[in-house]
Amino acid sequence: MFNHASPSGSKAEQYAQLAEQAKALLDGESDRIANAANLSALVYHALPALNWVGFYFFDGNELVVGPFQGLPACIRIPLDKGVCGLAASSGKTQRIDDVHAFPGHIACDAASRSELVVPLFRDDALIGVFDIDSPENGRFDVVDQTGLEEIARVFVQSLG
Ligand code: SME
Repeated sequence: MFNHASPSGSKAEQYAQLAEQAKALLDGESDRIANAANLSALVYHALPALNWVGFYFFDGNELVVGPFQGLPACIRIPLDKGVCGLAASSGKTQRIDDVHAFPGHIACDAASRSELVVPLFRDDALIGVFDIDSPENGRFDVVDQTGLEEIARVFVQSLG
């Protein structure tokens, strides 16, 4: 997957394969911690140039860090703060090419340069966000966004 040494198909096709791997990994399991942990590990190791992949869960008041891969992260994010807060409060994926140009960005890992945050909703209720950081500027394009939104959908559907 996303291996420069043995590429298999277009990036969109590789994301389709990753989504299939995600479905297989989560098959028959609905525990959100288990599934968030396994998805974080799957995505972190499948995609190049990432330094943080993980979940924040909405506790009814703010976002609280969940399973992730990468350096230790800030624990709580209010809905009016950061890229994560904006994704959660707007209900729209936030694809930020240069986090230093985003006024409210919360720097958990100083290495982060670009970020993609997908909001997670189930029956119109906010569950949390799926957050992916890269040390490269402009790491995420629209194909990455579509692919990672599909992975987020696989997670939400796994919850039953
Ligand atoms: N950068 C995020 C905070 C979470 S970390 O990237 C893990 C934000 O601005 O919301």
